[in-house]
Amino acid sequence: MTAVHSHSAEAAASPAALHFPPGFVWGSATAAYQIEGAAAEDGRTPSIWDTFSHTPGRVLNGDTGDIAADHYHRYQDDVALMSDLGLGAYRFSISWSRVQPTGRGPAVQRGLDFYRRLVDELLAKGITPVATLYHWDLPQELEDAGGWTVRQTPERFAEYAEIVAGALGDRVPYWTTLNEPWCSAFLGYGSGVHAPGRTEPESALKAAHHLNLAHGRAIGALRSVLPATAQTSITLNLHQVRAFSQSAADLDAARRIDAVGNRVFLGPILGDGYPADLLADTGHLVDWDALVRPGDLEEIARPIDLLGVNYYTPTLVSDGRESTDLPRNDGHGASDYSPWPGSEHVAFHLSPGETTAMNWAVDASALYDLLMRVHHEHPDLPMMVTENGAAYDDYVSPEGTVSDPRRIAYLRGHLSAVHRALADGADIRGYFLWSLLDNFEWSYGYSKRFGAVYVDFGTQRRVPKQSAHWYAEVARTNALRGLSEEADGS
Ligand code: FCB
Repeated sequence: MTAVHSHSAEAAASPAALHFPPGFVWGSATAAYQIEGAAAEDGRTPSIWDTFSHTPGRVLNGDTGDIAADHYHRYQDDVALMSDLGLGAYRFSISWSRVQPTGRGPAVQRGLDFYRRLVDELLAKGITPVATLYHWDLPQELEDAGGWTVRQTPERFAEYAEIVAGALGDRVPYWTTLNEPWCSAFLGYGSGVHAPGRTEPESALKAAHHLNLAHGRAIGALRSVLPATAQTSITLNLHQVRAFSQSAADLDAARRIDAVGNRVFLGPILGDGYPADLLADTGHLVDWDALVRPGDLEEIARPIDLLGVNYYTPTLVSDGRESTDLPRNDGHGASDYSPWPGSEHVAFHLSPGETTAMNWAVDASALYDLLMRVHHEHPDLPMMVTENGAAYDDYVSPEGTVSDPRRIAYLRGHLSAVHRALADGADIRGYFLWSLLDNFEWSYGYSKRFGAVYVDFGTQRRVPKQSAHWYAEVARTNALRGLSEEADGS
């Protein structure tokens, strides 16, 4: 890592410009169901998110992704926007239900054609495509056959991965198997705040293993098709878990949440298997010996080239065994059912500091800690920050502009933290702002705006926010300027 100035007197003395390494990738991210719309076009059939959002009471205001940001029809304009902003890369996901409407069998070419056109458009504008195969939208037919709780789904996923890589592999250099399998497993099958909305601790743990297996098999499928230069990865929403106090009970709470929030994926994917403490904490809920079959761990541990890290806010926990009204502020939405199987007694507290519109605490130092933790445990594993950003209650002024200084401050602080991790030796290859556009924020519907670009969902008009212009300047110069010391994620 050259050209990374350290968090030192020297960096502070030069009027606060932090330079990123040459070739650092600057991008923005989206996901298919959150922006595409065109839910029933060109052969697409419902995914679990279509079913879930059309079920009364599941999503705020009854919002659905039927139209979303209408990106399916406006992708050329959206790519032009990225190009105007000078963003070098675009992380998007592919809708499995467009490619294989029933989750199996031959591909629907019209569905694949959309992604062929999108990739061509990106390449024509010099923007690097970064494809995610699965961002939570399982074809409904596969859920009806058991979803992520059954071993057939990883098999289907590997077939799907091979189809997509066959169609786009010559033009897409970065491939991610799954986005945030923690959410798919534990919010989808545990707390039920995400599709398919099941509330079964055993199923959540089974889903976690089958998602791991799906990842490993997909890596095998991708490798059989992709050119050797292609980079493969998985994106995890790692939790930076902090204990409320240094008491043995609070430290144990933090250990447990680290196990079922992080190490349930990091362990097997990076070759260390399932952690013994996780198996002990959850052994009364699922029969791990029956779940993990011979050969599974080898498949799951197939080498990856990069780890994608998504980070928004830290996780502050204590032991809640004595608590009569257990605080459950884990940032993952309200439910009577816990997304933390085996650790239902853990209390979750809002971390100190100001909050975003999601009621998530802003704390850039936790991003630094997280990146350094992965770096220390796996020094040779390159990382990308594949999502980071904040929702605020943005609006268009009478002059037609969107002023979002708090988002700029959030991004500035977190980019400083990334820079500090680089300076301290972490191998971080890029950063993707969540999100390019305001979009369908899952169970919050359209009520939370994460975009660098404002979307008027009535007219589909796009208005780049002030933060979009600010971020464009960072990307253009490969540097962060105008810093004050306290913004430095420390
Ligand atoms: C992440 C998801 C992404 C978006 C952000 C705010 O968990 O991957 O789709 O909802 O949170």
